[in-house]
This record gives sequence, structure tokens and C-alpha cells, in this order.
Amino acid sequence: MDYALERFTAEVTQVLVATGRVPANLIELTTPKPNIPADLALPMFKAAKELGQPPPRLAAELAAAITLPPDSLIGAVTAVGPFLNFSMHPERLAAAVVSEIQATGVNYGHQDDGAGHRIVVDYSAPNIAKRMHVGHIRSTIIGQALVNIYRTLGYAVVGDNHLGDWGKQFGVVLASVERDGKPSAQGEAALEALEAQYARYAAAAKEDPALDEHARLWSLRLEQGDPQARALWQWSVDLTMSAAQRNYDRLGVHIDHAYGESFYEPMLAGVIQDALTNGAAFRDAEGAVVVENLEHLPTFLIQRKDGGTLYMTRDMATILFRVREFQPTQIVYVVGEPQSLHLRQLFALVRTMGYTTTSELIHVAFGTVFDGEGQALSTRRGNMIYLETLLDDAVSRARAVVERKSPDLPEAEKNAVAEAVGVGAVVYNDLYQDPKRNITLDWERMLSTDGNSATYLQYSHARCRSILRRASEDGGASADGDLALLTHPSETRLLKHLARLPEAVREAGARYAPFVIADWCYTTAREFGVFFEQCPVLKADSPALRVARLALVAVTATALKNGLGLLGLKAPERM
Ligand code: ARG
Repeated sequence: MDYALERFTAEVTQVLVATGRVPANLIELTTPKPNIPADLALPMFKAAKELGQPPPRLAAELAAAITLPPDSLIGAVTAVGPFLNFSMHPERLAAAVVSEIQATGVNYGHQDDGAGHRIVVDYSAPNIAKRMHVGHIRSTIIGQALVNIYRTLGYAVVGDNHLGDWGKQFGVVLASVERDGKPSAQGEAALEALEAQYARYAAAAKEDPALDEHARLWSLRLEQGDPQARALWQWSVDLTMSAAQRNYDRLGVHIDHAYGESFYEPMLAGVIQDALTNGAAFRDAEGAVVVENLEHLPTFLIQRKDGGTLYMTRDMATILFRVREFQPTQIVYVVGEPQSLHLRQLFALVRTMGYTTTSELIHVAFGTVFDGEGQALSTRRGNMIYLETLLDDAVSRARAVVERKSPDLPEAEKNAVAEAVGVGAVVYNDLYQDPKRNITLDWERMLSTDGNSATYLQYSHARCRSILRRASEDGGASADGDLALLTHPSETRLLKHLARLPEAVREAGARYAPFVIADWCYTTAREFGVFFEQCPVLKADSPALRVARLALVAVTATALKNGLGLLGLKAPERM
């Protein structure tokens, strides 16, 4: 797809080359500073030096030599000191942008950059028999946004939910269920009960060696494939996943696979052997398999002295499997900052072992979450927030906003809007800034109807839709529109910004940064607000202008909805 902005840039290069006065390799176009009334600039310094001319003279000569083809998207070429500035042709820009959004619709923003490449995204990854904590919530939300962005860029994306479903702690889980029975609650409440049982058992086992030994035996039985142990374990997996699924559905999250750590059990002996053979690891006097002196990283184990394996061992096998199964160009780990060292060790190890010669390994690290009082959430501190309750809380707060802003909506629609706004507030709070930064649960800001919030963006979209509904009700759209009439400065600004969505998607992908899309959405809503204030739509001066403005409103809604969709936000028709 060649979008208007790309065509404009390509045309600028073409007209420059066509002068015969500057070779293509000396053309490095830049975006002018915001106070310069131009859309692209060619600084002359490099070319002038090469061609032995003063930069301003070369700029002036080129400006005079350029001829614009008919229908060019370039409106003006001006030499300003050592710069050659190019501006878009406002009428043609309007026609090009509106019609490309109309033509592509829900696919506006899509690209084929990723064709022929696959990306594995490792995200969400809750631990079985536990509720998701904020780390999993952030991973789920950021991971899904990245998946959406890569799909839009044309990559084949494989999402994998690397469940924490294996390890010694399952001995305690199973023993505690044997002792206390299965909880009868549903959803996260059932997991909460299971966590409590686990804690009780673990505490008791500290005092009573027999209980400890019993848990160890359960863990052994599980590892050896004992049917009763396997069945109980499977029950705990299903219970956790059905609780997770309710949250995933609300968040619009779909993860292709959930192999989970347990899946790699049969590969573990092999990867340990590989590390030994390769010399990356050695077996110490006590029998543990150790990795030492690897790229100045702290020493770590890939097998315990009792033969047990670790989180690390399973992550090694996971990479081997993913590389073989999917031949990905990249494997992207959406995992909290506290696991940075683990992933650095893992990546360094598999690289030395030659597991990944063609796949790039990327850690998208994210910060932690603070409550309204500025305290980090933690189970120990007792201010931990869990996903189901977080979403419920958000939706009930959103319901109050809807009640205030849209009292006339039918009851069922109010509920649907509150769900979209509440869930949207949680999602956007995670995505509007660099993932590395910490986030705060500040409801006022998250649900504000005029700040940088999902609510504001959703309202802007609904406002567009409402204008279009009113226009079709009073049926005045019989005239032919003329998109070339859209030349008011605020129209031109909005159009140029809408034209930037494809570029924003590309940048978001390259930087692993959904906030680039969030910024784009926010600016769209603001530019739309300015346009709507300055340019009457339903009461435009002429029928033709009204039709053209309605078209601009419609494509703004389309593009904004696509942007919100990339972030995983719903865009209700009415609010
Ligand atoms: N289950 C892990 C945790 O809760 C996260 C897994 C992240 N992915 C990975 N391949 N290590 O900490």
C-alpha cells in the first residue's frame, strides 16, 4: 500500500532527481521544525559541499529548476536560506487522504512491511493456581497491543501464553487440594481460595516435616506422570484458565497458544546436555549444572544438584521449540522489568549455544503499578489489585460517568458503554506512555472526559458518529461534495494528521511502543476538536462544503476507531 504521505515523499525525491542537479544519494529529507510552514525539507549542506556551491545558492537554483507534474501532491517549493522546503497541495491532500481512508476503511493503516516474516510474542503468562497480578495484567495488555500492531504491519504473529504451570510448588498445590478439597467458588474467587489453601499448607509444612515430604511426593508423582496427580494438576490449569478467559474476553485478548512451561518437560534433559556439550555450562562437584562467566553476567543454574530443573531450563527449551516450530524473525518477551536479568542470562546462553542464529530476542520490559496513594502494589503490603476486581471497579466508575454524560441512553446501552469505557480506561492507562515507566491508578485522570484518556478518545469518536447520524436524519446530503473545499487551516491540519496513521503504526512496531498509537489517537481527537470548533459542519456555508466536511468527519471516525482498535479499545457508536 502506498499511502498519501509516502507518495508525497516519493514525489519530492523524484522532482529533485529530475532536475539533474542533485544525485539521489545526496537527498536526505527531514521533517521541518513545527514553526516552519512546510511538510518536508532538504537541508542543502551535504549536497552543496559535494557540489562545491554555497548552500543557499544551490537551494535557490533547485527551487527554480523543479517542475511539478500535473496533479502533484506537492503544492509549493521554496528556498529558505540553506533549506529547500516542500509543502503539500492542500486541495489534493484533502482528496487523497479522504479517499484513501474511505477506500481502505477498517484496513486503513495496514501495511505489508512484515510479509514473509513471523514474530512470536510471549505475553500474559499467568501462573497456575494463582490470580494474575499486576505484572501479568500489564503483560497481557501491552502484549496484545503489540500483537495487533504487528498484524497490521503484515507480520504473521504467533501469540504464546507461557503459563507458569510447572515447578516444585505444584507439589504443595496438589497436597493442599488433597487436604482441603477443591474450592467451590468461581473465577478469581476460586483462585483466591486456592492461594489461601496453598499458603496454609506451606506454613504448616514448615513446622511439620511429614507434610513437607508429602508435598515433595506429590511433586514427584506429577513429574512421573502419575494419572491422579496429572488429573488434579489439569483441574488446576483449567480452573485458572477459565478465570483468565473471562478477563481476556473483556479485554479483547486472544492468544494463539498456551503451551506453558509443562510442555517443555520432555526437552529439558536435551537442553541441559546441549549446554554441557557446547561448554556453556559445567557440572559442579555436587552435581548441579552451572553457567559461569557468561558475558559478565552473574552465575546461574540450569539444573539443581537434586536433578530438578528450573524456570531458566524451561525457557531455554521454549526458545529451541519456537525457533524450530515457527522460524520467527523475532521473539518478543513482554515481561516485567524485574525479570530483566533472567532474560539477559537466557538470551546470552542460547546465543552461545547457537539456538538462535536467525531469530532476534527482544525483551519489552515494563514498570510497576502504583495505587492512588502512590504505593507500589504488593501482596505483602495488602494493596494488591487483581484483574477481575480492577475491571469491575473501573466499569462501575465508568457507569457513573456515562450516567452523568449520557443520561438519555437506553439502559442496556449504558451498560455496554460503561463496560467499554471502564475496560478502556484500564487498558489505556497501561498504553499511553512508555511501557518502561510505572503507572498509577488515578481514576480521575483515567476516566477524564477531556484529558489524555480512553474516555476522551471514545467520546471524540462517538461525537463524530453522532454528527453523521444527525446529518443523515435531516437528509441534506443530496448535494455533491467537493473534497478540494477542505482547505481551512484546521482541516488541513486534521487531514495531515490522519494521513500519519500508517507511519505511526510503523514507528510503534519499530519501537515496541503502543504509546505512539496512543499519541496519534490523542492528537487526532484534539485536532478534530479544533476543526469542529472552527468549521461548522451541519451548518456549513454551502451544501457542497457540508458534504465535504461530513466526509472528513466520517474518515476521522474510521481512522480513530482503527487506532483505538490497535490498542484494544472499543469505540461505541453513541455515548
Ligand atoms: N509466568 C512468569 C511469571 O509469572 C512469566 C513468564 C514470562 N515468559 C517467559 N518466557 N519467561 O513470572
